[in-house]
Amino acid sequence: MTIKINAQKNLFHLQTDHTSYILTVMPNGELGQLYYGDRLPVKEHYANLAQREERGGMATWNDGLPDFQPEMLKQEYASLGKGDFRLPAFQLTQPNGSRTSEFAYQDYTLTAGKKRLAGLPATFDDTHDDAETLVCHLKDAITGVRLDLAYTVFPHQDVLVRSARFHNPTTTAVTLNAAASLQLDLPDADYDFLQFAGDWARERHLYRTHLRPGLQSIDSLRGASSHQENPFMILARPDTTDDQGSAFGLNLVYSGNFQDSVEVDQFATSRVLVGINPHEFGWQLAPGTDFQTPEAILSYTDRGLNQLSQQLGVFYQAHLVNPTFAHQDRPILINNWEATYFDFNEEKLMTIVQQAHDLGIEMFVLDDGWFGHRNDDTTSLGDWFVNQPKFPHGLTHFGDRVHALGMQLGLWFEPEMISQDSDLYRQHPDWVVGDPAATLTPSRHQFVLDMTRPEVIDYLFGKISSVISAMHLDYVKWDMNRNLTEAFSRRLGAEQQLEFTHRYILGVYQLYDRLTHAHPDVLFESCASGGGRFDLGMMYYAPQAWTSDDTDAVERLKIQCGTSYGYPQAMMGAHVSAVPNDQNGRVTSLATRGAVAFFGDLGYELDITQMTPAELEQIKEQVAFYQEHRHLFQFGTFYRVDSPFAGDGNVTSWGVVAADQGSAIFGRYQLLNHPNAPYQRQFFKGLDPQRTYTVNQDPEPFSGAELMHAGLFVPTVKPQQGYSSDFSAQLFIVRAVQ
Ligand code: DGJ
Repeated sequence: MTIKINAQKNLFHLQTDHTSYILTVMPNGELGQLYYGDRLPVKEHYANLAQREERGGMATWNDGLPDFQPEMLKQEYASLGKGDFRLPAFQLTQPNGSRTSEFAYQDYTLTAGKKRLAGLPATFDDTHDDAETLVCHLKDAITGVRLDLAYTVFPHQDVLVRSARFHNPTTTAVTLNAAASLQLDLPDADYDFLQFAGDWARERHLYRTHLRPGLQSIDSLRGASSHQENPFMILARPDTTDDQGSAFGLNLVYSGNFQDSVEVDQFATSRVLVGINPHEFGWQLAPGTDFQTPEAILSYTDRGLNQLSQQLGVFYQAHLVNPTFAHQDRPILINNWEATYFDFNEEKLMTIVQQAHDLGIEMFVLDDGWFGHRNDDTTSLGDWFVNQPKFPHGLTHFGDRVHALGMQLGLWFEPEMISQDSDLYRQHPDWVVGDPAATLTPSRHQFVLDMTRPEVIDYLFGKISSVISAMHLDYVKWDMNRNLTEAFSRRLGAEQQLEFTHRYILGVYQLYDRLTHAHPDVLFESCASGGGRFDLGMMYYAPQAWTSDDTDAVERLKIQCGTSYGYPQAMMGAHVSAVPNDQNGRVTSLATRGAVAFFGDLGYELDITQMTPAELEQIKEQVAFYQEHRHLFQFGTFYRVDSPFAGDGNVTSWGVVAADQGSAIFGRYQLLNHPNAPYQRQFFKGLDPQRTYTVNQDPEPFSGAELMHAGLFVPTVKPQQGYSSDFSAQLFIVRAVQ
């Protein structure tokens, strides 16, 4: 049992292998937080953790409990309006306009395992990994509304999963104006806030700042989790590094508007809230209905940020990602987007396919432009039928030719979008998101389909599903290239318009659910102009995502390193593209481009028919090399060694280590090559200190201890033929010899 309950004292001690989370029922019936951190022994009671003393000038719950002052309490799911002035976890408006709630604990249920949620992406425990779920049931004394706070303990990855569910058993509707997935009140504020921020082509760069009094938050109001902020955040002690120190990781299993906030109050405590963004949100809780929040993931370690990333990665693969693909090696693909953009036809593609096949590449992905009459980005979204001039014999004919070579086939869709110049728009202009009185705002010349409409989901399912079946697709790339504006559904009444953005994303999930169930062997990759929806909601349906539209190897160091804090490398699509790079004009060697892309799901995205025989030979070698080490690259334990975010960022290094520590590959990347530079050493991590290893087949044996503690001397980079000595990459292939 991982959840120990003292029912008499209303104490709940949630234990994982290394952590404890303790909560209790407070004198007013609300749930109070007592402790979260390194594992503690179970005790009869925790008086020390619950101690209070009265402070002047603050509201008390009642005169009989002068030291019970809501502003001082560490709570599990706080309301506003009873003397706690920090941001609340929820807000419920009664029919008379009052926003005061008095939820009190009723009882609990404890069950083995973890069930999926209906209609939302969610964690699960299919493998009987000792998960246990506690649900605390509360009731509002004023309205009679019920609240279930769910806690699942996944002991072996040191993860807790939380969510809240409101149920209205009364005959009167109430409105939910906010409903967080998780609240965590920490007793002090000596933490650094690590966020992963950026923009299109610059996603998930690490920013680390110390907490300060007041509110600090990351959020999205774009209808997508966004390029700009990612729902993943870390709170770490200031001395925590990749290798040591304590840290909390928090993430949300959700792809829409979110808000993660930390509020440091006047007593230097920290309130963390994670959930749907309360702005642009309001939910009519009609009689007899429920509202289920998305799930939030919480994890703690005292062994540094690499450990935090690793335990989260293991957790996602075991308890979130579609089990069909969670541990399955991902194919090496070639995508025609940066090779051809819209300028292709079947014959041109077949020359790429044939060449790719000769190089050992395993899958061809046909990107944007195969449908309707789309030859640029102004038309045809929604018309998911063949672009006849490009494929005169039809898509199935093309698909059969690819499959006949023994290659797998993938296809791009952008299901949620519609072009004004499309048959779909001409037939169903009312399917577009937006107030008909408003002038709708185009973005990339396109508009958004109202995914709250069942007929839209049916239409998309029918079209996409029949293309998947007809072409026997192995893979679908699901793109999404704009954010929501004029958020409004013609289908919803005025009182439900603030439900729109959440209902939109529920519609997206419904379509994903139907397609992945109808085509269980098709690998889905999510994409949103690159990494604009790189989140756990998407990962539940699509086990990998296109990390960024920025394919420049140097830019990718920061993007992939930042992403690695919260997501394992098998979730990251990483492609080798042409130089000068299309996004920033930078020229890097093919070796460097490969050495960066290896640490993800490798693909090629360039016109290989234009390459020299020597370059093609090099790609062939890269493909063979990646095939040999693919499982290690995609599923090995990932370690950050030198950070591109530290100092001048001139050197980045990272590595993957096999579960049995018998092999490892580390990559080292240097931006500028300095003359007469200080000596440099490459340090390794995660090896067995007692074992003997070789590096790059050099006969000299090294103990794991030597490689990890003394490092390996790195000679000055020599000029590479035809390329500058800047932007160099080195791979260290480490093998145990005993
Ligand atoms: C944005 C994606 O990120 C690209 O990879 C490509 O699929 C384009 N859209 C196509 O329009």
